[in-house]
Order: sequence, then structure tokens, then C-alpha cells
Amino acid sequence: MKAKITINTSDIIGDIDPRIYGSFIEHLGRAVYGGIYEPSHESADDMGFRKDVMELVKSLNVPVVRYPGGNFVSGYNWEDGIGDRSKRPRKLELAWNSIETNEIGIDEFQEWAKRAGAEIIMAVNLGTRGADEARNLVEYCNLETDTYYAELRRKNGFEKPFGIKLWCLGNEMDGDWQIGHKTPQEYARLACETAKLMKMTDPTIKLVACGSSGPAMPTFGEWERTVLRECYDHVDFISLHSYYGNPENDTADYLASSMDMDKFIIDTAHICDEIKAEKKSDKDIMLSFDEWNIWFHSNEQDKQIEHWQIAPPLLEDIFNFEDALVAGCLLITLLRHCDRVKIACLAQLVNVIAPIMTETGGRLWKQTIYYPFLHCSVNGRGKALNTVCECGSYDTAKHCNVSYIECIATMNGSDISLFAVNRSADESCELELSGFEGYELVSHTVLADDDMKRFNSADDPDAVSPVQQEIREKVSLAPRSWNMLKFTMK
Ligand code: AHR
Repeated sequence: MKAKITINTSDIIGDIDPRIYGSFIEHLGRAVYGGIYEPSHESADDMGFRKDVMELVKSLNVPVVRYPGGNFVSGYNWEDGIGDRSKRPRKLELAWNSIETNEIGIDEFQEWAKRAGAEIIMAVNLGTRGADEARNLVEYCNLETDTYYAELRRKNGFEKPFGIKLWCLGNEMDGDWQIGHKTPQEYARLACETAKLMKMTDPTIKLVACGSSGPAMPTFGEWERTVLRECYDHVDFISLHSYYGNPENDTADYLASSMDMDKFIIDTAHICDEIKAEKKSDKDIMLSFDEWNIWFHSNEQDKQIEHWQIAPPLLEDIFNFEDALVAGCLLITLLRHCDRVKIACLAQLVNVIAPIMTETGGRLWKQTIYYPFLHCSVNGRGKALNTVCECGSYDTAKHCNVSYIECIATMNGSDISLFAVNRSADESCELELSGFEGYELVSHTVLADDDMKRFNSADDPDAVSPVQQEIREKVSLAPRSWNMLKFTMK
């Protein structure tokens, strides 16, 4: 099979906002306790954070981390997680039927984020709470005034504000599973008034309104229109969430999942622009795809987990090789929309549907999806180039015209990176590269495997790991492979 990939270095889609490589830590399962935090672990630092985990998090170059949920946030009282730890309440956590000890709260998490080199995207509870608690949290985190909540932060040992610039107005409030689920009208009013109070408290913050929890939600479209009609002037982003899976074990179809993400982004952007026109506004609402990933492997095992445990092993999907290919296609799709998608969070970061897995008290390993994320996050910075790919396509039960090659080129100074997935099961693909004249191919990194279901584990951590391919005159993409080609100006 052959494909022609054409770029023009002056044909730019847009600047890649580094926050497109964000991730997510929720108080869920072993993400916090036994994940980023384990004071008894041999690698624990002075605050009990696992240094081995921190090292891998840092290697992923994650610029922003959403916190503390997720569904968790909709029942969370942020005041439970500050101040004297011996006085913090142990609470029933209703989103995940667990026990929350509150040993970690914003006081500690902001320190973890600082050590990880990431900024926080803070979500506020609009499930059981509202504008008042949200504006108090903004004051606690961001203000230097001599008023109650800023003083409370000082009393808890933090003279300097945390400086959290990005905030989510609740989480998935359109979903009936959400604590405090709302109708579009109910959420729109609450989000609008909360946004106003939060921005009155700190006018420098930016806000993300909840969009839909997925394109299949019955309110998708109506939800965004209602929320934006009410909140347009007070918010900066609208969120999108979507998870993908292969429960029917149809790999060819599963590999086309990114087409669903593509459509979801295009449709949501159109709705934002429709409301912009309706309002005769000059402002664009940007997209925050603040939960994306693959999530389905753990569904059955999670049903067996007993309620009311501390840090139960929930959502511990073990990702295989085909999941890495899908994650690669999803990353390419986000990059292709980087003119509109300014924030995206791989949900999540450690243990919970995560690229990094740990054993409590033991080892850690990189899941297969770690690699495409790593390659894009480290090398896919700068600008995304309009990348035209002429190649064959195939049809599946749910998708038509699935291109065999999914790809995007990015340009950073004198370097170009080309990220590409070959979806073909049996054919390698020889590339004809146009527009790369004046550039030299310096490396070709490949993730390929003949077993689509191979996975990494603590005992076999490198079962699926990338290799460097010898540079040949003719570039070829192996069947079912993830590729990163790096070029530099001659
Ligand atoms: O990331 C896991 C869960 O998925 C989050 O808590 C929720 O927002 C979404 O449904």
C-alpha cells in the first residue's frame, strides 16, 4: 500500500496550546492513595508522594492536571481537605461508593502539582453545592486579601496564593449518574451565577462550562445551546468528554473511534459559533476536551468491588497494543483541531484508566497508551500543519471511509514531527512525502506488534514498547503501527 502525505510549512492549522497535553487526577480508586501518594512506600518523598510515580509523570511533560474530579467533585466539600490532617473528616464518597479519608486535599495537591511541574485545573462542586462555596474556594486558592478564606490559607501554612488560573464549573452535570444531576436550564442558571461570583472574586481566572458527557447524550446540542445562551459572556471554554472501547472485539472498527471524536469536536464548535452569531459576539468559546481516553476493560471487574473501602482498585483498565493505536489516533485528532481545542485531559494519569500503573507498596509500569501520549507531548509542540493524506480507506459496521493512514505533522522551530497510525491489518504502507524538501529525517520511532492484545505489566513492563527503526530512503509504516518521524531542517 502507498500513501502520499503533503504538507506546506506555511499552511498552519494553529498554535498547539500546551494544555492539550493535560491529564487528570481524581479522588477515585488508587489514583491518589496508592498512586501519587503513598507515605509508606520506599520511594516516598518528604510529603509522602511517590517519587517513582512523579518521575514518570514528569517524563510525560503534562502541563495541566484536572483535580479533584470527575464525579467525585459533585459530592465534595473542599473544606474537608484543608488544615490539620488529624481533624479531617472521614466521609462516605457517594460517586464511587468508597471512603474518602481527606488525607489529601488542595493544600497537598497543589504541592504535588508544583513538584510535577503542572498547573491545576480545579473543578468546583455544582452537584450538592453552589456559587458560595465556589467563590470561597477561589478566595482560598488565589487571593492575597486579609479576608477570611485567604487568611485561612495562611493559617494552614500557605502565605502565597496557589494561583489557580483555570476552573471547571462542575462535572458532567448532564449525566443522570452525576450527584446533583441538572436539566440544561438548571445547570445554565447555576453555572452563570457561579461564574459571575468566581470572576468577581478573581477576574483573572478562566472558566470551563460543562458541555456534554459524550455525543450520545440525549441532551447533546440542546445542552450546549442552553448553557451558552445563559453563560456566554462569563465563560471561556465548554467541555467535551468521551471514552472509547472495543467491547465487541472488532479491531478494524475500534481503530476508527477517532472519527467519532472528530465529529464530536466539529459539532460542538459549530454550536458554539451558532450561539456566537446569535449573540452578535466577537468572542470565541474554545473547547476543553477535559476527559478523553479508552475505558471498558475494567467494567465487569468493577461490579465485584465491595462498597465503602479506602482506595479500592477501581477503573484499573489494563491497556493493550490496539488501545495504544486508538490513543494515537485520538491524539492526532486533537492536534488536527488545535485551533479550537485548547485544553485536553487524558483521563486519567495514575492507576485509574491511566498510562501509569503502580502496585501499592511495590513496582510501577508504563501502560501501552503511555507511549503515543509521551511522543506527542514531548515532540508535538509548536504549530500543527494542515496534513493532507491521500491513501485508501475501508468500511466497518459503524464507520465508512476509514482512512488507512491517520496522520498529522507539527512544526516547532526548525523541527517537524509526523505522527502516523497505519490501521491496515496486513499491509505496510510506503510513504511519499511532499513538502518535506529541505528537511532531513533524523528518527523513526515505531510501536508495532503482531498481537493486538499484548499488554505491559509489572512482571513484563516492556512487552509493548517502542523501537527505533533504521532510517531508509523509503519510509514505510508497518501494518497496525504507531509512528513518530522526526525531521530537522538541513
Ligand atoms: O474518569 C472517570 C469518570 O468518567 C469521571 O469521574 C467522570 O467525570 C466520567 O464519567
